[in-house]
Amino acid sequence: MDGSAIWRRNDDHLPAALRGLRLPLVGSPMFIISGPELVIAQCKAGIVGSFPALNAREAEGEPPLLEAWLRQITEELDRHNQANPDNPAAPFAVNQIVHRSNARLERDLEICARWKVPIWITSLGARVEVNEAAHSCGGITLHDIINNTFAKKAIEKGADGLIAVAAGAGGHAGPQSPFALIREIRAWFDGPLLLSGAIASGEALLAARAVGADFGYMGSPFIATSEANAQPGYKQMIVDSGAEDIVTSSLFTGVSGNYLKPSIAAAGLDPDNLATATPDSMNFSSGSSKPKAWKEIWGCGQGIGDVHDVTDVATLVNRLDREYRAAGARLAAEFAAGFAAGFSTGATD
Ligand SMILES: Cc1cc2nc3c(=O)[nH]c(=O)nc-3n(C[C@H](O)[C@H](O)[C@H](O)COP(=O)(O)O)c2cc1C
Repeated sequence: MDGSAIWRRNDDHLPAALRGLRLPLVGSPMFIISGPELVIAQCKAGIVGSFPALNAREAEGEPPLLEAWLRQITEELDRHNQANPDNPAAPFAVNQIVHRSNARLERDLEICARWKVPIWITSLGARVEVNEAAHSCGGITLHDIINNTFAKKAIEKGADGLIAVAAGAGGHAGPQSPFALIREIRAWFDGPLLLSGAIASGEALLAARAVGADFGYMGSPFIATSEANAQPGYKQMIVDSGAEDIVTSSLFTGVSGNYLKPSIAAAGLDPDNLATATPDSMNFSSGSSKPKAWKEIWGCGQGIGDVHDVTDVATLVNRLDREYRAAGARLAAEFAAGFAAGFSTGATD
């Protein structure tokens, strides 16, 4: 039996774009960090790669950089697929910030539809027109939410799948336990469901699958890769830090998010005594609520205790793959021993 057979999934219920991946994993979009180099490396490594459309920012009067990035990603992945028909790249996703202050949204939707982007990730607002734009070119939408009420609204507005952003996620995190959030959504939703928040190992990815998610959604560990657009000090701080070094604050963007404490201290603030801010201070007109928030105050999730060095993406995905198989094999052996001893599978109880 080849190694992969031990965890071959049945993914027939998923849309075609999400089937047959090497690992049930999506590299999440990260402001400033995710660009074509990271996305291409993630897709070639066999997981979905993604970037926020707002990261592609041209100087005034220049042609849209988003268009150039989509061309680069599409052509590079096509070349890879022709050269490696037995090991094709995973599809990529583009993240749209659906917030009223994002003045570029309409233009970016049009460009993504023209380039037939296969997976559209929407954040900060569920809108029918955005889902229609994705569907018009054969794409699917995954909408990120932090609770069951928002999850229901997103599906009512036509999203195809959900990203449950739980406690401990990097960037704008939710307050809820992943166990509570996924179980509440799975009680009524059988479509594509992704779990975001502090997944940084194959073991955690397997746990996401066990609780009911189809995929893990992972950001922070990819910051500490050579392909990420992050300063060396940011990458090293992720290697050196753990969950205790993450602070939750609304001060920087108006919405609760998780950040590296040492970066807050380096900016001259006391990470243990931060003021709060309200959502009306969110502004994406220049791409971020406050550029300083992401350039100097570094977003990060709680899972980084599993990140021990800066590597390339392929090395990180290989580690996750090894850990995922080993964790699955360990549990499968425990269950096999139980079944051999006469325990029921539970299916007919
Ligand atoms: C630095 C940083 C920037 C982020 N920027 C975005 C973004 O622009 N759009 C978005 O939808 N999510 C963004 N996120 C959230 C991620 O998509 C995802 O929910 C999160 O990284 C998952 O948690 P993890 O970092 O613990 O893996 C960001 C996260 C980080 C760490």
